[in-house]
Amino acid sequence: MCGIVGFTGKAAPEATEKCREILLSGLENLEYRGYDSAGIAMAGEGEGITICRAVGRISNLRKAVAGCQPQGSCGIGHTRWATHGRPTVENCHPHEDEKHSVAVVHNGIIENYQHLKEELQRSGVEFNSQTDTEVIAQLLAHHYSGNMKDTLQKVLPLLEGSFALGVLDKNQPDCIYCARRRSPLLVAQGKDGSYLASDVSALLAYTKDVTYLEENGIAVLTPDSIRFYNENGSEIHPESTHITWDATAARKNGFEHYMLKEIFDQPTALRDTLNHYVDVELGCIRREAMPFTPEQAKALRRVTIAACGTAYHASVMGQSLLEQLAGIPALAAIASEYRYSNMPPVEGEVFIAVSQSGETADTLAALSYKKAQGLRTIALSNVLGSTIAREADAVMYTLAGPEIAVASTKAYLTQVLLFAILALDLAHLRGVIDDAKLKEGIAALAKLPEQVEEILAKQSVVQDFVQQQKDCRDIFFIGRLMDYASSLEAALKLKEVSYLHSEAYAAGELKHGTIALVDESCLVVVFATQTVVLEKTLANMEEVRARGAKLLLLGHFPEGAPEDCSLWNIGKTSDQLAPLLTTVYAQLFAYYMAKLHGCDIDKPRNLAKSVTVE
Ligand code: M6R
Repeated sequence: MCGIVGFTGKAAPEATEKCREILLSGLENLEYRGYDSAGIAMAGEGEGITICRAVGRISNLRKAVAGCQPQGSCGIGHTRWATHGRPTVENCHPHEDEKHSVAVVHNGIIENYQHLKEELQRSGVEFNSQTDTEVIAQLLAHHYSGNMKDTLQKVLPLLEGSFALGVLDKNQPDCIYCARRRSPLLVAQGKDGSYLASDVSALLAYTKDVTYLEENGIAVLTPDSIRFYNENGSEIHPESTHITWDATAARKNGFEHYMLKEIFDQPTALRDTLNHYVDVELGCIRREAMPFTPEQAKALRRVTIAACGTAYHASVMGQSLLEQLAGIPALAAIASEYRYSNMPPVEGEVFIAVSQSGETADTLAALSYKKAQGLRTIALSNVLGSTIAREADAVMYTLAGPEIAVASTKAYLTQVLLFAILALDLAHLRGVIDDAKLKEGIAALAKLPEQVEEILAKQSVVQDFVQQQKDCRDIFFIGRLMDYASSLEAALKLKEVSYLHSEAYAAGELKHGTIALVDESCLVVVFATQTVVLEKTLANMEEVRARGAKLLLLGHFPEGAPEDCSLWNIGKTSDQLAPLLTTVYAQLFAYYMAKLHGCDIDKPRNLAKSVTVE
């Protein structure tokens, strides 16, 4: 989600200038990873550590660096996509301990940071930020033994969650220490010094031979050498990798388009979001992360949700999840319609605005409308500190990381996941389900990332199918209940990136008119995951088959597909979660159809990522 860069250079007259430039231009190359704030820390013999930070783009950091003139030939830098604490200077990386002896940049999420912070506070440590990262800097200083590598080995096992770290130690001003767990980090030896980065795109200007740190590994960089250690502290000698990508391909992690990269980001996005709200091992919800107290949950009588586009489709899923899992009456509405609807508020009603960007004008207007009615409001957003997140009374963030492609993919899956977590929490607080059922529900959520990975591993099945659809111009997506919401999202995804005509229908509605359009030239995609209406959905499929349509069936059918029908199977899960899995297939389908038709996938015609006009 964020970006890290580091450099320690050999002594030379221009060493300070060179180090600053490597850090700043490295961060510019990583800006696509996060761009709400950035900072660098530099160290030099007799200089201590100087930290320079700025809110906003790297161009702001450049101005700040020109003002504060940090000295030294060794430094670390970070561009941030905020997860804990708003994008302010205090929350920018690098973070340091209270004695200014250690500086840290961090990608990832420390799940137990609150607990660690409270322990340190009890022993008198004072904190300056709201971030999880500052805990690492304070812990390293607190446990410092005079040897940073040994200190890291002592501190890293205390951290739960994921991290890629770059650390400066005031006592060794030409050294960078780094470590990682479930978050990538790579290093490289150049002729002028040693480099560190979270993504290869930051280093391609200097070298194409890089070494990836192993899981739980540590590396120590000096200007002339890089030494690697495994989890137990034993020195190891990993092989380097020669990168053949150019800088643009590297930013997309080797994927041809951001849309495909973001589809493949989804297992991580789901894991990060889930771990933020749920303790999977204990099978319980993290109370402090949720927007409802037990009293508020019991007083709840109705939830109204408003959003636009894909976020609206996630809201339709949310409506079903709240109704089915928690028994709470819910209504999902299109924000641009709802804001003019004159809907009187109901006693015990809560309003939820859903927006990836947190800046969509119509969603913001719907939020203001409900606030003016005196309702309690909650935002579901992917962007920390966005307008919608700030305006609402409470906020739940999706931890999907920056979504760059115009077509929303990972934001959708994580929005639906948030609704599932919220519905389970409310069901539990209202006594609809007991502890055992809550645990069962959480266990099902915890399987999702792996199930998504299994579908992604079958992308060639989608590619092959798409190759056979060259002449297809009309595509209908049909399904019932939550599968209808999946159909809406699948049709939108396909039309926005491939410009093909596609429509979504509640399967039972076809025979009330639309079936007149169906003939041999159509492809009908059938979502069939909802057990209670499965037979009815399959009967609707037969109706379109009888009109000569080509058929594609999505669901859990281990016994195989009906004759003359292509089948994309998903793993076994609950009816409530199955639509998340079929959606991954639909995203891949839209992507490969767009590719087949040579469309500008990441920037479709007439569309913008953030719609800030009404
Ligand atoms: O940032 P938001 O979630 O509020 O954006 C809402 C829609 O504009 C957005 O989902 C749009 O429909 C996407 N292009 C769909 O892929």
